[in-house]
Amino acid sequence: MRSVDVSRYIKTASKIDGWFSGDAARLFGWIDEIQKANGVVGNLFEIGCHHGKSAQLLGAMARPESESLSVCDLFGLQTDNVSRSGHGDRDVFENNMQVVRDLGVKYQIFQKNSLELNPSEIGDGYRFFHVDGGHNPDEALADLKLAASCLCEKGVIALDDPFRIEWPGVTEALIRFLDEYTDFEALIVGCNKVLLTRRAASAIYLSEFGKHESMDAVGFGYPWKIKSMPFHHSSLRILYVPDYRQKKSIGNLVRKIYYATPLSKRARSGNYAVMQPEPTGKSSIA
Ligand SMILES: C[S@@+](CC[C@H](N)C(=O)[O-])C[C@H]1O[C@@H](n2cnc3c(N)ncnc32)[C@H](O)[C@@H]1O
Repeated sequence: MRSVDVSRYIKTASKIDGWFSGDAARLFGWIDEIQKANGVVGNLFEIGCHHGKSAQLLGAMARPESESLSVCDLFGLQTDNVSRSGHGDRDVFENNMQVVRDLGVKYQIFQKNSLELNPSEIGDGYRFFHVDGGHNPDEALADLKLAASCLCEKGVIALDDPFRIEWPGVTEALIRFLDEYTDFEALIVGCNKVLLTRRAASAIYLSEFGKHESMDAVGFGYPWKIKSMPFHHSSLRILYVPDYRQKKSIGNLVRKIYYATPLSKRARSGNYAVMQPEPTGKSSIA
C-alpha cells in the first residue's frame, strides 16, 4: 500500500494559487490512507480545479497502475461561472499538473459546465469525489448528486465551503442532498470540507477518526481535537482547534510538549470519548 506523501505535496503546491489548505490536504491524505488500508479501489474526480492546487494532491493519491484522475472546470468558459467561485485557467492548470504526470498518473479533463456532465460520460466506481465548482445551491446540489451516482460502495465525497457565511448556497445544497439521499451521511467536518459517505460504509472511517494514534500520525495531534455533535439525524465529527488551544501561553506550550512525548501517546492510546466536555483551559494538562 502506498499512501500519499502529504508533506511533500504541501511543499510542492505551496506556490500554486488556489483555495486548498495544508490542513485540508492532511484530511484528504487521511481518507486516502483509510481507503488503501481497507482495499477501497476506484478513480478520483474533482469538480472545480482552478489552477490545480487540490488536483495535484488527488493525482498523487491515485495508484498509478490502476487508478486515474478526472477533473471538470469551466476554465475559459467563465461566463458560466455564475457564483463567481474561482476562475480556472487551463494552461496554468496543465503546467501545475506536471508533477502528476511525473508520477505516471493519467488524468482527463472535462472542460465544461459541470451541470452538463452526466454519469454515463464520466463512468462510475469513484472512490474519492471532490466537489469544489459552482457554489450556488443548484450547482452544488447537482454536483453532489452526480458524485453520489458515480461513487463506489465505500467511496467518499468531499464538499468544499460547507458552512461558510460567504457561501450559504453550499450549506443549502448539503442539507437538500442529505434530505433526499438518506443512504448518505456527513462523516466529519473540518479544514473547510465536509466528507460524506454511505451509512453502510461509514464504520471504516469513523473507527479511525476516533483514534489518538491515527490522529497523531496524520498531523492532527495536539492542538487538534475531534468532538461529535448531532447534525441531520446523525452524529457529525468535528475536527477543530479549540480557541483556548490557539492562545500563546506557557500552559499551551507545556501541553504541546507533553502531547509530543511517547509517554503521553501510550497513555492516550485508544478512542476519543464521543462527547468530551470542553476543558476550561485552567488545568495543567487539558
Ligand atoms: C473555488 S475554485 C476551485 C479551487 C481549487 N479546488 C483549488 O484547489 O484551488 C472553483 C472552480 O470552479 C470552477 N467553476 C465554477 N463554476 C463551475 C461550473 N458550473 N462548472 C465547472 N466548473 C466551475 C471555476 O472556474 C474555478 O476554477
